[in-house]
Amino acid sequence: MTASLTNPLRVGLRQERVISPQCLVIFGASGDLTHRKLIPALFELFRQRRLPSEFAILGCARRPWSDAEFRSKMEKSLAVEIAADPEAWKTFCDGLFYEPVDLQIDEDLVRLGKRLEQIDRLRATRSNRTFYMSVSPNFYGSGCRALAAAGLLADSKRSRVVIEKPFGRDFASAQDLNRIVNNCAKENQIFRIDHYLGKETVQNILVLRFANTIFEPIWNRNYISSVQITAAETVGVEERAGYYESAGALRDMVQNHLTQMLALTAMEPPGRYEPESIRNEKAKVLQAARLANEAEPWKCCVRGQYGPGGSSADPLTGYRQEPGVDPNSTTETYVSMKLFIDNWRWQGVPFYLRTGKRMPKRLSEVVLTFREAPVHLFDSAGAGPTANQLILRIQPNEGADFRFEVKAPGSGMRSRPVDMDFSYDESFG
Ligand code: BG6
Repeated sequence: MTASLTNPLRVGLRQERVISPQCLVIFGASGDLTHRKLIPALFELFRQRRLPSEFAILGCARRPWSDAEFRSKMEKSLAVEIAADPEAWKTFCDGLFYEPVDLQIDEDLVRLGKRLEQIDRLRATRSNRTFYMSVSPNFYGSGCRALAAAGLLADSKRSRVVIEKPFGRDFASAQDLNRIVNNCAKENQIFRIDHYLGKETVQNILVLRFANTIFEPIWNRNYISSVQITAAETVGVEERAGYYESAGALRDMVQNHLTQMLALTAMEPPGRYEPESIRNEKAKVLQAARLANEAEPWKCCVRGQYGPGGSSADPLTGYRQEPGVDPNSTTETYVSMKLFIDNWRWQGVPFYLRTGKRMPKRLSEVVLTFREAPVHLFDSAGAGPTANQLILRIQPNEGADFRFEVKAPGSGMRSRPVDMDFSYDESFG
């Protein structure tokens, strides 16, 4: 091993996946997601030197912005990050471009094709293109059709399309969309993504379960009495009423992020660490999942909506008063439900899923509650004996907690719960 390789930072970097030269085309680049999440994430990758120099980002939307206007808008929303590394921004910015494109207009697609060729020459991106659909879900199908008709998906090795949730409104429309997308591109070009799967702590569910031996023997109905999966947010709907009104918490969070966490928590170990194997195990969980009361779902599901709140100094708008929201809207901003997974591992164990906006605390976690001790030999020094819990903290304060009873100090034999805590921050910085 060379001296430089002993530097842990270097070793870490060498293990990171290298992104190939390409142009990332973001449709809907004037929207919230681009400046709030995508560009900050890409800038961070750039600062970590994980983007090649042959990389470009082409923002596309209907607004008639120039490259300079796009760059300046992104610069404003990245003010804090740029202040920390102004030099990096200067270089990153050179790879940011903008082209006004309406995916419904053929001429715009032709112009887009030419612009991409120009960017290929400028940035050596080698006709490698990733088309990211950050547009309203209504346009996923027509957007893919337009790209295919313009020949931009013809090269199955060098073009790919990324589609976010919600993938359809219901099962039938999801199948329709799938048919459309499959007619436009080969399966290996299509990426139906869920950003929760990019979170270290969500990926950690797999590692915790399948890289340790102590959990597997107790990870089942014999030892676990319930599983709670929560994603609570303090933010409201923000500027996204147009999208959220037709999605609601169920399509925005449950069918994607919460379901992914459910599948990772409940699945069997895959035969290999490969996308197909993992997908198959997840699918088996979903096949076996059912609402606790399918005949009367209102008895095991709650839908809610945030109303006005906050304090007089800091009032918070109710959902129906948010800009763009129908004053009589019945869209849910909160949903919780009880499920069962009818298989050998989980039969009879309730899984509680819940998510909401404008909740008192921002918190995403998976809590596994173990069965109580069959006999309580000791008095409790607290409110009563508590069951053991394993808490996987997805965010914030990423990590895990194991809660168990110990002898409370002092004379007498009384028990009290304590936490054994793992924090990503403390362990890895
Ligand atoms: C998105 C939802 O998928 O996830 C948003 O559309 C939500 O409504 C967001 O706020 C939460 O993700 P994160 O990573 O910010 O917790």
